[in-house]
Amino acid sequence: DWNPGNVIAEQVERIRAQVGDARVICGLSGGVDSAVAAALVQRAVGDRLTCVFVDHGLLREGEAEQVERDYVAATGVNLVVVDAADTFLSALEGVSDPETKRKIIGREFIRAFERAASDVVAQAQEEGGKVGFLVQGTLYPDVVESGGGSGTANIKSHHNVGGLPEDLEFALVEPLRTLFKDEVRAIGRELGLPEVIVGRQPFPGPGLGIRIVGSITRDRLATLRRADAIVREELSAAGWDDEIWQCPVVLLADVRSVGVQGDGRTYGHPIVLRPVSSEDAMTADWTRLPYDLLAKVSNRITNEVAEVNRVVLDVTSKPPGTIEWE
Ligand code: XMP
Repeated sequence: DWNPGNVIAEQVERIRAQVGDARVICGLSGGVDSAVAAALVQRAVGDRLTCVFVDHGLLREGEAEQVERDYVAATGVNLVVVDAADTFLSALEGVSDPETKRKIIGREFIRAFERAASDVVAQAQEEGGKVGFLVQGTLYPDVVESGGGSGTANIKSHHNVGGLPEDLEFALVEPLRTLFKDEVRAIGRELGLPEVIVGRQPFPGPGLGIRIVGSITRDRLATLRRADAIVREELSAAGWDDEIWQCPVVLLADVRSVGVQGDGRTYGHPIVLRPVSSEDAMTADWTRLPYDLLAKVSNRITNEVAEVNRVVLDVTSKPPGTIEWE
């Protein structure tokens, strides 16, 4: 019988056998896969694991704290936090083309991660140790999709962890390679990880950067973060977390529309709700959320988020629409 406790015990043995007395590094994204992979490796090798979290400033409300505070409290893992928001935001200044945004975010992510990884390696050398391994939260569906090969050294860019410096040779530790997402969640719960991380819906590596149609600024990020937090709160409260695949919330920063509030005319931005139902994100349908729930979300957003005066619902399936707007 499949049971998370057995899988954990088995993986801990395997990881110990693979790693020996070397040190290990792992990038955390805030998502469930890297969080569970790191927690498994930490069970196996303890202090010889160092996690690196690059905060690119494009996460949703509370997500950086969930990694920096709650995840560390639950696991006791060694964590290096790179606060790279300023770097990312300056690199993204004035950029509104989606592909250019993605390229910049990917490039800056690799740079920040490489720098932090080099520091960890240097520190280990000073202490007479050696970092030999890099953890990846590769799942079984990823293995199948990419043809089953196992990697050493340079990392596929597919999971938001980019390449590493060419002079650094790491072998990969991939403790989730035989598992499906729901099994990974069960293992995460068994390991005592916070539910906000274990239960998190898919969220793209480039984060809120590709949910602002237009260029990215601190103010626009703050606006979107508020609206997104309201949507997540109301969907959860109404019991929709397990029914929907994910619900991107998008700020149309390049669009304005006229509205009225109190005695005054407003000229604000629309927020788009994109709730989707899907099995694998390859195809999706828009989720038929109840009108009353939509009304509540709309009222709250227009009342509580000053720059937003209109809420619209995306009723496009995939195809022809993608799940994300950019
Ligand atoms: P689309 O928009 O292509 O999204 O229908 C399909 C799924 O992939 C997620 N997504 C990304 N994930 N980096 C990621 O890690 C990305 O650049 C990226 N773009 C889209 C999206 O949230 C959805 O779950």
